[in-house]
Amino acid sequence: MSADGTPILRVADLVVRMGVQTILSGVSIEVRQGGIVSVLGSNGVGKTTLMRAISGVYRAASGRIEFEGHDITNLAAHKIVAAGLAQAPEGRQIFSSMTVEENLRLGAGRRASAEYLQDRERILAMFPILTERLAQRAGSMSGGEQQMLCVARALMSRPKLLLMDEPSLGLAPKVVRQIFDLARDIRAAGTAVLLVEQNARAALRVADYAYVLDGGRVALSGEAKALASDARVRAAYLGGHAT
Ligand SMILES: Nc1ncnc2c1ncn2[C@@H]1O[C@H](COP(=O)(O)OP(=O)(O)O)[C@@H](O)[C@H]1O
Ligand SMILES: [Mg+2]
Repeated sequence: MSADGTPILRVADLVVRMGVQTILSGVSIEVRQGGIVSVLGSNGVGKTTLMRAISGVYRAASGRIEFEGHDITNLAAHKIVAAGLAQAPEGRQIFSSMTVEENLRLGAGRRASAEYLQDRERILAMFPILTERLAQRAGSMSGGEQQMLCVARALMSRPKLLLMDEPSLGLAPKVVRQIFDLARDIRAAGTAVLLVEQNARAALRVADYAYVLDGGRVALSGEAKALASDARVRAAYLGGHAT
């Protein structure tokens, strides 16, 4: 929390509808300053819908989304990015035919060149492999490298909160570990992280607090350590095995 105790992100009773279908039916979550919070849940429960509503891509039918105490519900997506909330979207969505450098430049928006270079240096320090690949076509890199680029590009907008939607999808376990370690580095650099994952085991290892979504609602929430040992979570999301 910030000094006055306001969470950096507060989502209250969020309802999102697509046509006649209600995808989120009253979701409430909070992210504290300096936190890594995870939203877990199986395929199709509404995790990406929640991310897109927070980042202004989908409309909220009702409920409220506050960022640093300010109402950002249904604000235009670019204004939400400008306020300091960036997204590393599901499926990465980097520009494959552009170079790594060009992708990073796009993440920086209209910032002046000198500032861009400073930000780039600061961020690339977290991603040594991308430094070697600056002139390479983004689409020619491995899945893990593309995921790193997706995160690096999001960080170029200097976010106070980074949303990561399924960063582990399709990656080998060793690479998944690297990506999740990155979440810790990002937090250490002063950016809170909201991590959406189907990979509950890996996410609970890195998160402080977690919410389990089911059928468009928060079914369970708690400290990540407590959830990792909760019998219901273990049975449904951790394959019932010891971690
Ligand atoms: N643009 C859309 N139009 C219609 N239905 C959608 C749209 N986006 C998501 N949905 C539906 O909303 C539900 C939740 O999807 P999603 O948020 O992508 O889940 P998750 O990220 O947890 O896998 C699914 O049933 C999906 O089919
Ligand atoms: Mg999704």
